[in-house]
Amino acid sequence: MIRVYSPATIGNISVGFDTLGIAISPIDNSNFGDIVEIKEHKKFEIKNIGKFSEQLPVVFTENIIWKCWKYFCKKINKKISVLITLEKNMPIGSGLGSSACSISASLVAMNEFCKKPLSKKELLNIMGRLEGEISGNIHYDNVAPCFLGGLQIILQSKKYISQSIPYFKNWKWVVAWPGTNVSTSKARKILPKRYKLHTCIEHSRNLAGFIHSSYSAQQKLAISFIKDIIAEPYRMKYIPGFLKMRKNLKKEGSIGFGISGSGPTIFSICNNTESANSISKWLEKNYLINNQGFVKICKVNNKGTVIKR
Ligand code: HSE
Repeated sequence: MIRVYSPATIGNISVGFDTLGIAISPIDNSNFGDIVEIKEHKKFEIKNIGKFSEQLPVVFTENIIWKCWKYFCKKINKKISVLITLEKNMPIGSGLGSSACSISASLVAMNEFCKKPLSKKELLNIMGRLEGEISGNIHYDNVAPCFLGGLQIILQSKKYISQSIPYFKNWKWVVAWPGTNVSTSKARKILPKRYKLHTCIEHSRNLAGFIHSSYSAQQKLAISFIKDIIAEPYRMKYIPGFLKMRKNLKKEGSIGFGISGSGPTIFSICNNTESANSISKWLEKNYLINNQGFVKICKVNNKGTVIKR
């Protein structure tokens, strides 16, 4: 039996819509992602377990694992008879790369099971396509960090899909999921089809500035570029009290704030444990809507998807 773990991710990081993504793990090193197990079986079968398995579609052919299996078998030109158990630990439509977790874990598990017929690049390519089927557009800012770990910049060129870039190791990433769901495909449909020239220029400046600051290890400068002028103005309506929350969290020590992926999870960056704890407390008190919601203090996960022996 093979067991694979894939971590949660923050897509966009405000400044890099569809272009930047980071893999995260709680500072206490607990699991914060999906787990897939694969073993030989008389026929192809899926078993869903885990806290959020009830959120998965009931129709078999709509299950993400079925889609991954179909794509993988087509690619290797062979139908594999396996039992895949998905431990669905990430809430669906939360903005924490839940689908990327299931996609990455199941593809890596199948590839390992078949003795690695596909290269890393081929796997990543399929992951992006599958993510596209689910959300309406191919985007790699969740699957790439989920699979490869660290902070990834999506290049989407023929030769290079994604590359790792340096990140600030002292930053803590506090994420809060209120307990409600937003569909990525819907959150993409509300965005404009065209943007004004000055918006495009400012966006390029912010993203370039962030990358430059990351390479030159200038933290304050990097933080000053964590701004979202592409999606946030349209998506913040899904997040009650968004602007007020940004102000309040600043008082608790937050140095950067934004929507994680397409929301409703929000992320807040800080650079010390004390602030991380006050931010976390504030969010628990003011942002969680039901008892499913959670707040996690995270660091960067630089391993990505791993096979657990
Ligand atoms: N870049 C994607 C979006 C991430 O914002 O639509 C989705 O999690």
